[in-house]
Amino acid sequence: MEIREMLYEGKAKRLYSTDDPDALYLKYKNSLTAFNAKKKAEMEGKGELNNMISSWIFKYLRSKGIDSHFIERIDELSQLVKPVTIVPLEVVVRNVTAGSICRRLGVEEGMKLPRPLVEFYYKEDELDDPLVIRDHAVLFGWATDEELDRMTEMALTVDSVLTELFSSIDIDLVDFKLEFGKDKEGNILLADEISPDTCRFWQKGTRQSLDKDRFRKDLGDVLGAYREIWRRLSEKKEDN
Ligand code: C5P
Repeated sequence: MEIREMLYEGKAKRLYSTDDPDALYLKYKNSLTAFNAKKKAEMEGKGELNNMISSWIFKYLRSKGIDSHFIERIDELSQLVKPVTIVPLEVVVRNVTAGSICRRLGVEEGMKLPRPLVEFYYKEDELDDPLVIRDHAVLFGWATDEELDRMTEMALTVDSVLTELFSSIDIDLVDFKLEFGKDKEGNILLADEISPDTCRFWQKGTRQSLDKDRFRKDLGDVLGAYREIWRRLSEKKEDN
């Protein structure tokens, strides 16, 4: 396969076209950013860990009937993905309170919610990705009602599948962020990545972070935590 021009460069990945119109080449970077890139670092090995973890999770979700843009992992840093038009919304699912919801609403960290909470954020760096309500998304044309229903349903399914998966490796899935895209037939697919950059993972029964909060809060040993997530997932390899 021939890799052609770079189509997009994000904070953690670069996307390239290929000679196959149905496949794009996605290469992970070693950059780590937080607070809308106000805090930045380079960490050798981070790109590889996120590529391995995200590929593993997308394959696992596929085995449970949840479709994503993921086609296959190519090597340590890259994967092939289907071309999609990204819906400009970040979908956050929360099982336990942490992060921005505690700051925004003054609720305590670590509260188990009676049911998963689904939130939509408008993907716009200049506005710091504001929380939006459903009608904003519909009335400004970011997604239709049907697409929002489908994304919510898929996000809740991902939540229940991943909560069970992570619980089996002694991790509480606190919250996570998903992105969705539309393929050329208009089907909604999961896109972007699912990794310790985009999820909050706590060692089961504790609040010990095994994710990007180690970087956000200067807790140290960021890569050690990412490696630990990969070690536990890869030991489950027989399932995937
Ligand atoms: O910051 P907040 O508490 O709203 O984040 C909720 C979840 O979404 C966290 O797991 C965080 O890592 C993820 N997130 C993300 N990308 C963003 C915002 C949040 O991956 N731009």
